[in-house]
Amino acid sequence: MNKETFYITTPIYYPSSKLHIGHTYTTVAADVLARIKRAQGYDVMFLTGTDEHGEKILNVAKDKGLEPKVYLDQIVSEIKELWEKMEISYDHFIRTTDDYHEKSVQEIFMKLYEKGDIYKGEYEGLYCTPCESFWTETQLADGKCPDCGRDVQKTKEETYFFRLSKYQDRLLDLLENTDFLQPKSRVNEMVNNFIKQGLDDLSISRTSFDWGIPVPIDEGHVIYVWLDALSNYITALDYPDDKEGKYKKYWPADVHLVGKEIVRFHTIIWPAILMALDEPVPKKVFGHGWILLDGGKMSKSKGNIVDPVILIERYGVDAIKYFLMREYSFGQDGLFTNEVLLNRLNSDLANDLGNLVSRTIAMIHKYNDGVIIKSEFESEFDQSLIDLAIGTRVLVEKRVDNLDFSNALEEIWKFVRRTNKYIDETSPWILAKDETKKDELDNVLYNLSESIRIIAALISPFLPHTSTKILDAFGAEESLRLWNSSSEYGLTKDNTKVEKIAVLFPRIDVAEEIEYLGSLGEKPEEKMVFKEEISIDDFAKMDLRVADIVSVEKHPKADRLLVLQLKVGNEKRQVVSGIAEHFKIEELIGEKVVLVANLKPVKLRGVLSQGMILAACDDKDLKLVTVDFESGTPIS
Ligand code: MSP
Repeated sequence: MNKETFYITTPIYYPSSKLHIGHTYTTVAADVLARIKRAQGYDVMFLTGTDEHGEKILNVAKDKGLEPKVYLDQIVSEIKELWEKMEISYDHFIRTTDDYHEKSVQEIFMKLYEKGDIYKGEYEGLYCTPCESFWTETQLADGKCPDCGRDVQKTKEETYFFRLSKYQDRLLDLLENTDFLQPKSRVNEMVNNFIKQGLDDLSISRTSFDWGIPVPIDEGHVIYVWLDALSNYITALDYPDDKEGKYKKYWPADVHLVGKEIVRFHTIIWPAILMALDEPVPKKVFGHGWILLDGGKMSKSKGNIVDPVILIERYGVDAIKYFLMREYSFGQDGLFTNEVLLNRLNSDLANDLGNLVSRTIAMIHKYNDGVIIKSEFESEFDQSLIDLAIGTRVLVEKRVDNLDFSNALEEIWKFVRRTNKYIDETSPWILAKDETKKDELDNVLYNLSESIRIIAALISPFLPHTSTKILDAFGAEESLRLWNSSSEYGLTKDNTKVEKIAVLFPRIDVAEEIEYLGSLGEKPEEKMVFKEEISIDDFAKMDLRVADIVSVEKHPKADRLLVLQLKVGNEKRQVVSGIAEHFKIEELIGEKVVLVANLKPVKLRGVLSQGMILAACDDKDLKLVTVDFESGTPIS
């Protein structure tokens, strides 16, 4: 029997800079969903990739002095490395510069053209290059791009148009009367701000640059990036040729995961293109929220990005995946701070899960020589634990089907906390003191082991490593690791051996760690530059003396200079010094300063200067070097 299919996609990312934790967020969510669906027995197709055409990419490559493809190959391989580090289980990675994609996009263009849904005209309007988006005057926010807040350019060029307006009514119906766009709260914006304002036909070709897929019938035009990019979801399945039947098998997609700012493209332009192609629209588009830093959305141009590689190297992939999926409600925005991250790791992973596992393993070794023993005993606390053990899987599945990853994990953690509570309720350390209660103790340790096995199976799509470590430690056979076995109680066999393991998630000292993370952002200290080396003999040539400042006058010709009268032992000296802006005259009188006494006399703006006095100064401040010693005393 053919398995039911499940097709899930991430947006294809712009390789205009390194990806940050925000991009990682979407991809991790898609990965978790793909893993759960596979575990549930679906034939999953999980697609991700990169969106490589357009003016923005061209400009980035130009700035680096590279051919676009050379630049792209480099950064795309970094993106793939990141996904490898994050253990993203994608089935296919599409690049919009792949030959098969370019060819298919041209075929899509021609299908639409031949149908009469693409026509040639002239475009006049406002264009935001970084967002590759067209705007009307009324859509601007304070005259700027409503998405990124940057300037838009007036553009006038010959262009091909897609008859978006023709699909207005069908789009309205799709958005208002089906579950196509999730969460529901995003529907209003699309309907009121875009569709009901009246949809204009969409300019889908550009002539002002050439980094794109050529319009097959018109050399000077390249296809607008969004038509190129959105088509990836079907070209990756070999549409329109479909030689291997992939398109037939997986399309329509079960869900496109996208960030909220690109919901518009996915729920208006994309379904309209598919309608024009007479193809089914995706079953669901989910618009998730943004991870924000203090100053707003993360972006390289704002300089506020969080590097996922630093985080996974320090805390581990599982911990970061857990944090992303648990901390933020998928549909809403959420704030990232180091403190939020560290507290979450401590409370849920180190305390709740880590302690449960380490306490249980320690007790099985201490009281039962590392062996789980099945017992006939039943305690009054067992049933509520077992009910939760059996019931949690379905609750998790329901949450995941609604893309509510945070509450899916919360369902599992309710069970983790319940299991911890079971230890307190049954107090195995007390049972262990009484030989007659051996059966009762075995029962407690069995229930703990079986609950932990179920927890480990349930977390496997979210924290694959941790799951495997725990299941290995508890000697779980393959059949006891399956997703479905996570709702079957009592599978662990009598006499199963339990291995000791290292601490799963060490507790983090939050204050210390925040200081450490803060220091990562600091610039490395600049190396001090010293003057050329001199020998001790060179230095010995200097005659430094303590000198008393007796009187001070302004230099008659230069505001910056003061003329100081000094007493050096029995001698008098006159020194011109450039310190006028730092001192009032009366502050200087009586100071005991250091004089370079054997400096060759010079005239400074006509006034004789017999030596110089020493001072320390930085950009802002200047202080005289003073020595509280008899005037005339030599310094060496
Ligand atoms: N190339 C287009 C997508 C084309 S899909 C046919 C694009 N690329 S992007 O690299 O700019 O963004 C990709 C995704 O990353 C978007 O869904 C965006 O919302 C998401 N994120 C970027 N920064 C983010 C956060 N700070 N938080 C959460 N998601 C964020 O748009």
